[in-house]
Amino acid sequence: MSDAQLAREAELRRTFAIISHPDAGKTTITEKMLLFGNAIQLAGSVKSKRNDRHATSDWMKMEQERGISVTTSVMQFPYGGRIVNLLDTPGHEDFSEDTYRTLTAVDSALMVIDGAKGVEERTIKLMEVCRLRTTPILTFINKMDRDIRDPIEVMDEVETVLNIQCAPMTWPIGMGRHFKGVYHLYNDVIHLYTQGQGSRIPDDKRIEGLDNPEVDAVLGEEQAEELRMEVDLVRGASHEFDLEAYRRGELTPVYFGTAMGNFGVREMMDGFVEHAPAPQSRETDTREVTAQDERFTGFVFKIQANMDPNHRDRIAFLRVCSGKYEKNMKMRHVRIGKDVKIADALTFMASDRSQVEEAWPGDIIGLHNHGTIQIGDTFTVGEDMRFTGIPHFAPELFKRVRLKDPLKMKALQKGLQQLSEEGATQVFMPMDNNDLILGAVGTLQFDVVAHRLKEEYKVDCLYEGVNVQTARWVYCNDAKMLEEFKRKASTNLAIDGGGYLTYIAPTRVNLQMTQERWPDIRFQPTREH
Ligand code: G4P
Repeated sequence: MSDAQLAREAELRRTFAIISHPDAGKTTITEKMLLFGNAIQLAGSVKSKRNDRHATSDWMKMEQERGISVTTSVMQFPYGGRIVNLLDTPGHEDFSEDTYRTLTAVDSALMVIDGAKGVEERTIKLMEVCRLRTTPILTFINKMDRDIRDPIEVMDEVETVLNIQCAPMTWPIGMGRHFKGVYHLYNDVIHLYTQGQGSRIPDDKRIEGLDNPEVDAVLGEEQAEELRMEVDLVRGASHEFDLEAYRRGELTPVYFGTAMGNFGVREMMDGFVEHAPAPQSRETDTREVTAQDERFTGFVFKIQANMDPNHRDRIAFLRVCSGKYEKNMKMRHVRIGKDVKIADALTFMASDRSQVEEAWPGDIIGLHNHGTIQIGDTFTVGEDMRFTGIPHFAPELFKRVRLKDPLKMKALQKGLQQLSEEGATQVFMPMDNNDLILGAVGTLQFDVVAHRLKEEYKVDCLYEGVNVQTARWVYCNDAKMLEEFKRKASTNLAIDGGGYLTYIAPTRVNLQMTQERWPDIRFQPTREH
């Protein structure tokens, strides 16, 4: 591999995630992008019809769609001469930590907004997360085939609520039943909308030039004149696209369309591959890693147990940050200080996964995890350094897990441990008794775990209340003091699923008093390597 080849391959990559409120159209637009990327043949294969979506809770729906939604947690497809990696962010609020970590692995984000609803609550939260790393945001205002709100008003809302400048790139021509297409403000081209092309790559019917008489012929003189006036107004009143401001996360280019009608998506994708950043640098505890650095590095941002029920395996998703992954290469698993040969890393297509021969910065590869890999782990080619900023969050809700069949203890432990590797739940084993305590970031997680224990590990369990209000990971550089602490505080100490010492506090007051009593011990609300 030459430096030039590495730089070229890295420059081709666009790694991003979609942020949106549920129902804005994330699934639909994903499907259309895969269609344009030739990763699927017929739109409609990503999502099964959800006839009973209102009858079942969100996570049940998620479970039912698991075969799909999980293989689609990473998708790679070619578009416009580039290689696009799309990382799925889980939809439900309960998984915000998972989403947070996924957003640490992308270089930009696509924000999908329902034009009728405007900026919604979950989008606001996700935007806050993007802000933490100044992730560049591109916006798609969806559902133009419906009577949405005035597009100018929607952009105003984005600007004021999300505190980011909007630069319209395309402008809608009508809406709802009168939606005719979009005008590209920078190419001076009108793209005409034809209904009924949702499940194939649509024709691109275009008229070159806003002043072209064809515009009057196609739209009618009245709508054509209206469009010209509106475009004048929009050009005067909105921000102009500024690549640097976009890259700094201060301005978002805005595209309009209908994901369902498969329209406007192509223009958005063309803009995306042109403007979105190639793989960016990342911080470690010793130095900054750039994509052009020829030494291979990467970090694990997500772990998924039993992705494929037929394989019953656990996959760790690693983002390549620099250098090249090659099949059979040796990597240093920095946290455990071991070199491991990786022969069977996976790559992910829409509905397929296959062994990857090589991967470049920005790519995501799947490593088979036999319990040694944790979220946040760094892999290098021998260098002792760790990527920072990929935390585990302390759960705020706790329950004791009880077995219906006491003989299934082993399966229960294994299940809890493996599911907790995914990071949305944590299992704690108190030092003083044989309880198993499950901690979660949201209440739905308890149901998800019970359901998955039953389905994937054949274990029936019950939950009981437990006297734990909060947890903190315990660190201390003084081994002697730590031993003393362990002896004195053992009733409130536990080991988590990753083998880390944790203080499980019955009350916040108790935690505070313990912290005051042991000033040299650190009680951390996040676990980070
Ligand atoms: P999500 O992943 O963000 O939750 O949204 P999803 O794509 O599932 O879309 C939510 C609903 O909005 C779906 O309708 C979908 O068909 C619809 N939708 C998406 N894009 C458009 C669009 O451009 N125009 C219109 N009119 N609707 C759109 P549903 O009835 O809830 O589901 P389904 O029965 O259609 O699958």
